[in-house]
Amino acid sequence: MSAPQPSAEALVSVSNIHTHYGKSHILHGVTLHVGAGEVVGLLGRNGVGKSTTLKTIMGLAQPSQGEVKFAGRAVTGLPAHKLARLGMGYVPEDRRIFRFLTVMENLRTGLDRRGVTAQRKQELLDKVFAYFPVLAERRHQPGGTLSGGEQQMLAIARAMMLEPRIILLDEPTEGLMPRMVSQIAQIIGALHRDGVAILLVEQNVPLTLQASERIYIMEKGMVRHHCAASDINVNDEAIRQYLGV
Ligand SMILES: Nc1ncnc2c1ncn2[C@@H]1O[C@H](COP(=O)(O)OP(=O)(O)OP(=O)(O)O)[C@@H](O)[C@H]1O
Ligand SMILES: [Mg+2]
Repeated sequence: MSAPQPSAEALVSVSNIHTHYGKSHILHGVTLHVGAGEVVGLLGRNGVGKSTTLKTIMGLAQPSQGEVKFAGRAVTGLPAHKLARLGMGYVPEDRRIFRFLTVMENLRTGLDRRGVTAQRKQELLDKVFAYFPVLAERRHQPGGTLSGGEQQMLAIARAMMLEPRIILLDEPTEGLMPRMVSQIAQIIGALHRDGVAILLVEQNVPLTLQASERIYIMEKGMVRHHCAASDINVNDEAIRQYLGV
């Protein structure tokens, strides 16, 4: 079992993070990194602290110890909106789209920010509509009327409006039909080709191994295993234990 080392060139690096919810000590020294343009999978059984790791990176949970760096700068504890402005995107487990706003209005919440020209806004919209043609079809529909898979696409598309350098994706395929799962996998591939880094939390182990370059496996609030995605052997008993498969 190799210990993950934070890399000097990492886009996001997390060093020895401890996070509590009230008196519960949830993260016990998580260390991981994601390089620029890299897709990294974060796996582990239910309740091991995957979502808490993403929330701590995104400034939504405050660590009691440890450091988060983004592009070489210490950003530990900065509020989420500041991190978003620096280029960190986040799509939470519950997606949090605006149900009563149309698809277009949902996307505009990410577009209406300083320094984005009308031309750039149009380019960004054209790009997400090319990625997600179904969102173009449904652009005038309230977000709450979309299917689960379409809402997931809208949540990812909205994150893309902020032109992030990395997206933290929490269980994007949870509860989706197989056809939608493969569309989400294709989008992850397309974002990767566009140079966007992704930290992917998933229960879908085959999808994660296929989409990611490297994998971290968590257990009880710690990273237990770290390796290239191609080196994971899902028949290995220790790996099966960690993944609960
Ligand atoms: N807001 C909270 N208050 C108190 N405890 C919490 C809170 N959120 C999560 N926890 C607890 O922290 C632990 C880690 O939760 P977390 O959501 O990070 O796990 P996870 O690996 O994402 O699990 P899952 O696979 O079920 O999404 C769990 O024991 C959970 O019950
Ligand atoms: Mg979770």
